Amino acid sequence: MRRVTLDDLVGIMGIQSLHPGALEMTKEFSELMGFNKEQHLLEVASGSGETSNWITGKYGCKITGIDYSHNMVKFATEKAQKNGLTENLNFLQADAHSLPFEGNTFDAAFSEAAVSPLDVKKVISEMARVVKPGGKVGVHDMYWMKEPGEEKRKQFYEFEGFHPMFLEQWVEIFKECGLEVVHVEEKLDMMDTFYEDSTKDMGFQKGFLGASKLLVKYGVGALKELYQELQIAKTDIRDHIKYFVLIGKKAEE
Ligand SMILES: C[S@@+](CC[C@H](N)C(=O)[O-])C[C@H]1O[C@@H](n2cnc3c(N)ncnc32)[C@H](O)[C@@H]1O
Repeated sequence: MRRVTLDDLVGIMGIQSLHPGALEMTKEFSELMGFNKEQHLLEVASGSGETSNWITGKYGCKITGIDYSHNMVKFATEKAQKNGLTENLNFLQADAHSLPFEGNTFDAAFSEAAVSPLDVKKVISEMARVVKPGGKVGVHDMYWMKEPGEEKRKQFYEFEGFHPMFLEQWVEIFKECGLEVVHVEEKLDMMDTFYEDSTKDMGFQKGFLGASKLLVKYGVGALKELYQELQIAKTDIRDHIKYFVLIGKKAEE
């Protein structure tokens, strides 16, 4: 049975922010990162480009966004064109594990809800490498708040396709990558809201249109499975999976 892809959530469903808290979270995160007009930022796994478009619209900075998916790069580029922001925004296809940039290139690098499923140490070390001395590396993402046990680990893996880490492990990886941790914050309600909103976005509660578009592409079985997985996430896993913000600073030379 085919699974609904992230590209489809943007391309078919029209969902633009694929992270908990959507642009509200981006706004709060941008303030913590201290973005400003003079900067050239790197967004890792930039998805539909919603975030980079919003940040550049607000702060006037330059952003290079990379994403593994060609479709996402296309969506993001089209959005920049529509917003008249192509002078400041550039999106390209690349792998977060091996960033195609020289060391010390960007004023800051960030990623929203994207690093957890990847090789976290490799990606954070790449982000730290391409940021200039004194620049920030920031993420917001998911973590296990308490040991979930085998059954819940399995359920979560079936739904999201990866095993999250504990927050202490994230902090340790930041340090190992030469980053001084300047902000760490747990967002305890964020995942609950996210799973509620996701159910609505999929059209299960919001109306018929979203669900019917997915139905045409995937059939009844896949939709039913997705709905069941969302129910499990909303009920059984919600006490264990939480969200965090973590920001580190690369040492000055
Ligand atoms: C959950 S979405 C988040 C997208 C965006 N950051 C947002 O918050 O809307 C995860 C994104 O990671 C991208 N991705 C997955 N593996 C990647 C990799 N190895 N390198 C770069 N991007 C990757 C996907 O294509 C997708 O756009």
